[in-house]
Amino acid sequence: MKTCLNIEQLRAQIQQWRADGERIAFVPTMGNLHEGHLSLVEIAQQKAARVVVSIYVNPLQFSPDEDFASYPRTLDDDLSKLEAMAVDLVFTPDDSMIYPEGEQQSTYVEVPQLSHIIEGEFRPGFFRGVATVVLKLFNMVQPDVAVFGEKDFQQLLVIRQMVKDLNLPVEIIGGQTKREADGLAKSSRNNYLSAAERESSRILSASLQACRHQIEQGVDVEQAENSCIKNLESHGFVVDYVTLRETSRLQKVSNDEVRAGCALVLLAAAKLGKTRLIDNIIFGSEA
Ligand code: PAJ
Repeated sequence: MKTCLNIEQLRAQIQQWRADGERIAFVPTMGNLHEGHLSLVEIAQQKAARVVVSIYVNPLQFSPDEDFASYPRTLDDDLSKLEAMAVDLVFTPDDSMIYPEGEQQSTYVEVPQLSHIIEGEFRPGFFRGVATVVLKLFNMVQPDVAVFGEKDFQQLLVIRQMVKDLNLPVEIIGGQTKREADGLAKSSRNNYLSAAERESSRILSASLQACRHQIEQGVDVEQAENSCIKNLESHGFVVDYVTLRETSRLQKVSNDEVRAGCALVLLAAAKLGKTRLIDNIIFGSEA
């Protein structure tokens, strides 16, 4: 496995693979790798002869009150996991390589329709930061295929929309959410939970499943969302949102549309103590 710290080394390797006619798949990450990330690597390996993983904690997608400084950085451990999976190349740039002019001076990418709703309402600037760094990484790696997790469903749609709007020659593939045995979606931020919070955290996915069940039984959507919020609050969560949307533009859906059987995603974000967790379930006709 090769590790590249700078863009020149990366480009030289990519050019060689391209000259040999090899397809390249890419998995961008912020490190602290868990089974969720590694499942995306497996998908990438099925899609192309060469797999590139990037590890970069992107300051542009953190607001000043978020956890950029304390975000877990576990490079040695990450590299051993990727080595064990026989990943071809790991790109680990630093801030001076990604934002040589400083992050605020950088040209940015905005995906307006999808970036200011739901998660974007609570994290202004987040999707701009994600879209910008992902486009920059795409331009550096020039992959044929890139794999993103459904765990961050809105992020996946933002990337798909960016690729479509900017005519990027990259196929975007979504990977299913990997979970702990009790249903909690795997996440680097789960490490922040105390033992008691970890115990309560399973309620998030359980409540979403219960809410989905209610909606499938024909309960009014708003009523089902509200009872999910109340249930989470009764277990100590401070809820940012629980919302049912259609899966293409993340628009709200009426009871009639639900009955007509459109593809649905039930999205949630909630805090337990200082830790903010997000989760979603995809269901309905195309799930
Ligand atoms: P990060 O949170 O490290 O996630 C990297 C990729 O792993 C994302 O596509 C994310 O959706 C996926 N992922 C996270 N948890 C998962 C799980 N439990 N199951 C399956 N996939 C999971 O998302 C980012 O980094 C950044 O925003 C990034 C795209 C790298 C841009 O900086």
